Amino acid sequence: MVKTKLTQSPSIAARFIQHGEIVAFPTETVYGLGANIFNEAAIKKIFLAKGRPADNPLIAHICDASQLEQVTSGIPADAAKLIEVFFPGPLTLILPKNEKVPLMATAGLNTIGVRMPKDSIARQFLRACAVPVVAPSANLSGRPSPTTWQAVRTDLDGLISCILKGDQTKVGLESTVVDCTSDKPIILRAGAVTLEQLSKVIPETEVSTEAGVVAPKSPGMKYRHYAPRAKVILTPFPQYTVPSDTSAYIGLDAPFHPAAFKRVLICKSVEEYAHELFHFFRECDKEEVETIYCQTVSEEGLGLALMDRIKKAAHG
Ligand code: TXA
Ligand code: MG
Repeated sequence: MVKTKLTQSPSIAARFIQHGEIVAFPTETVYGLGANIFNEAAIKKIFLAKGRPADNPLIAHICDASQLEQVTSGIPADAAKLIEVFFPGPLTLILPKNEKVPLMATAGLNTIGVRMPKDSIARQFLRACAVPVVAPSANLSGRPSPTTWQAVRTDLDGLISCILKGDQTKVGLESTVVDCTSDKPIILRAGAVTLEQLSKVIPETEVSTEAGVVAPKSPGMKYRHYAPRAKVILTPFPQYTVPSDTSAYIGLDAPFHPAAFKRVLICKSVEEYAHELFHFFRECDKEEVETIYCQTVSEEGLGLALMDRIKKAAHG
């Protein structure tokens, strides 16, 4: 066990990174759990604290374009266009890895995911670290990604050196992951930068069909993810039957019998639904909800990412 320091100071948190420790920090998507990308002992601590399988690669977080050359060995033309339009923001690009980056960070792959967060605290923190920071989401492996510092503490208190406190994250779902190492960009994980937005910049952009296959290009896709303890059931319409008092409901429309649920959240938009989903899952777990009904949404725009997370929570 270590004592986990809570701080609001990006520079205090950065000092832990410089001393080879691991730090949870806010970004606009979800909280990340960071280490100095060039320090293998520190990277190992991330895998240990999360219980993360060693074959699941980490994303390198940078604060400005000058750090790109420290982590990659070249930027393909399509990637340059996407960087121009979407960095900083909730987009991770898979690029050829720089040989100086330890293979432990990329789980042995010769590619690396790179992202430049937009959140102001994340940027202050990364600037103070003065090195690129590798970070997965700051949850225990298999649990929903944390969207508040309290959720990070629930999972990782005593296992990590520091939590940099920020607000609830703006987007609430993890970044869009786009592979830029083949002849056209391929979305490996949907997120807040949508297929529609990416296609405006590069019309050939495609969504990977690999989800669920045995050796997917994005190793993270084969693991159970985003899952609350409760059973998740997808429902196209607001629940018609009367549920038990151990059920919860989240969706865009009100359910027929709201009072029969232990917890109900009606969201005004797909954006709000995405923002609240993981937090809702975690609140349901605290209250020992057994079944969570999630209303399905149309798979366009941010709806593609939201449905991806809900389906993964439902099917494991
Ligand atoms: O929004 C986010 O992306 C958050 C914040 C903290 O930046 N991070 C995050 O990291 O969600 P993580 O580790 O939970 O998810 C990273 C995903 C995994 O599915 C992983 O397999 C994939 O990105 N990935 C990372 N590096 C890769 C690579 N070189 N090739 C293919 N997939 C990669
Ligand atoms: Mg994760």
